[in-house]
Amino acid sequence: MSDQATVPTATHPPASPEFPEFPTARRCPFAEPAGYPELRAQGPLSQVTLYNGRRVWIVTGYDEGRRVLADHGSFSSVRADPRFPATAPRFEAARAVRNFIGMDPPGHTTQRRMLTASFTVRRINDFRPRIQQIVDTLLDGLLRRGTSADLVPDFALPVPSTVICDLLGVPYDDHAFFEAQARRIVHGDSSQQDSADAFTRIRLYLEELIRTKRTKRGDGLLDELITEHVDQGELDTRTLAEISLLLLVAGHETTANAIALGVLTLLERPDVLRRVRAEPAAVADVVEELLRHLSIADGAARFATRDVEIAGQPVREGDGVIVAIAAMNRDSAVFGEPDAFDPRRSARRHVAFGYGIHQCLGQNLARAEMEIALTSLFRRIPDLRLAVGVDELELRHPAGLHGVVALPVEWETGSAA
Ligand code: HEM
Repeated sequence: MSDQATVPTATHPPASPEFPEFPTARRCPFAEPAGYPELRAQGPLSQVTLYNGRRVWIVTGYDEGRRVLADHGSFSSVRADPRFPATAPRFEAARAVRNFIGMDPPGHTTQRRMLTASFTVRRINDFRPRIQQIVDTLLDGLLRRGTSADLVPDFALPVPSTVICDLLGVPYDDHAFFEAQARRIVHGDSSQQDSADAFTRIRLYLEELIRTKRTKRGDGLLDELITEHVDQGELDTRTLAEISLLLLVAGHETTANAIALGVLTLLERPDVLRRVRAEPAAVADVVEELLRHLSIADGAARFATRDVEIAGQPVREGDGVIVAIAAMNRDSAVFGEPDAFDPRRSARRHVAFGYGIHQCLGQNLARAEMEIALTSLFRRIPDLRLAVGVDELELRHPAGLHGVVALPVEWETGSAA
């Protein structure tokens, strides 16, 4: 496979009412993607048309989706394989990147195993005071600067970006560079060329950082991985750069959107906000329901490696399958009144972090960041309010992570930590 995988040529007629296009935009920040109710009405499995004309299966049912994600023997995540369905041009560029999100066992197992100990609940709990410190410093800056802000660049993005730098041992001074590259990688409207170029730049940056660390060690996860695996000859610099690229990009872009949309949701729901203020422990349930309701990372892609059945339908070897996480999280058989944001429900069965062997490695970190960011923000700025109407907020491109482009807010009073 060359570094520049080619976009497969269209082999099917364009999208039609029967095989609508995927992905589609959301009508408002709190809605699931347009067309999901219609797909669901066709049953747990239906078909959609991708940007390049390829027709693939889409799973909207909760049980069926979990079955697909759990069955890595029949459904592959290997992005380098031309059968892997790219849901946007930028995914064609991801085919050339070799890290475990785009691999099956045994390669996936080997890489993931090197990292699991660093992301356990216990390790992340130990890290909470540092996350709190990062959040407090950002809020100090926000309050010093005035009584209005765009919470995306001023809070929601720098929280996870600083945290993942700290955890990995990547200098935060370089954040403008890698955040810009990450945007070109994950944002829905990036071209294949743009995304490929951003992958290369960030990889070369990380390779250089690894070489520097090999002579002068620091105390981040990258430094540990160098000592434990690179120095032992088990892992080469390029592979470690590609693994850390995944952690760096997934570690800040996802959570940044979750924090911004979380703030927005709570601003729209003063009753929930009052509860979070009165009983801070309630924030854990609020975060789970936010994850379910917002489903910011939708559409996990796979392809069938053999003839199988999903919901009684034959699926052929080589067929593309999209697991619609946002639809599964609103399956009424599992979540009553699924469109309602209700933190009193038990949302913990949601699949916002995926399911099976690829289930999000950073989920404990993401939860800790969301909990600390949301409680601290509303404690320090109790009269925070949106500076524009919700319907004026621009949503991110549907082929990327769900989020708002900007979140203008204002307030009159803020307090010290
Ligand atoms: C709210 C925030 C987040 C959401 C909604 C989210 C969502 C997801 C989802 C749905 C997957 C599964 C993809 C698949 O099955 O193909 C995934 C995988 C992954 N996530 Fe997250 N994520 C979040 C935060 C993070 C953070 C903070 C990190 C930091 C390390 C991270 C690192 C990863 C990695 C490394 C994988 C690949 C796991 C594997 O393939 O074994 N994520 N994430």
